[in-house]
Amino acid sequence: MDGLEVIECERCPELCASRSRIVNGTGPEDAELLFVGEGPGEHEDEGGEPFVGRSGTVLDDALRDHGLERDAVRITNCVRCRPPGNRDPHKDELANCREYLEREISRVDPELVVTLGKVPTEHLLGRDAAVTKEAGTIEDARLDGTAHRVLICVHPAATLYDSSQQGTFESAIATAAEVAGVAESDGSGQSRLGGF
Ligand code: URA
Repeated sequence: MDGLEVIECERCPELCASRSRIVNGTGPEDAELLFVGEGPGEHEDEGGEPFVGRSGTVLDDALRDHGLERDAVRITNCVRCRPPGNRDPHKDELANCREYLEREISRVDPELVVTLGKVPTEHLLGRDAAVTKEAGTIEDARLDGTAHRVLICVHPAATLYDSSQQGTFESAIATAAEVAGVAESDGSGQSRLGGF
């Protein structure tokens, strides 16, 4: 690992065979928001950047709608190499890549880590999660020895398959934007995040 970039890694034989490249996180190294997805898909594997396919468009649009440009936030994944056929990363692959993710979280030290979907949510919180139900909630997680705030969010792709997820997704992004200081509060004169 060189800074936040993994240059070479051979820890996961199946992923090494299926990847075209290692897909590192993008965005400022001092970002206030760090979004964590599952792993690169086909477009990310081709382009070398997280969330550049259809899910990326959904994420970018939601960020923009809430006053955030993509290049103002950091975006990364639980695993940095594309799983074959876009399957979920296996437990051992998540474990192999965890050191890189924890180091990234620790160096960036964001106000909020935003987990996009079930895999990153369960991976970082270390428990089962009902993401649709829990989306928008913030909880503490000890990562790389330090406490971090984690905001649970549905995966942007979920909104493409189930339009009822759109509101849930948007409202979690609105909370993230509020933490980043770019969004308006709910009009009550108080931040919905209280003393956060
Ligand atoms: N889905 C993810 O979880 N990560 C990406 O980078 C792209 C799609």
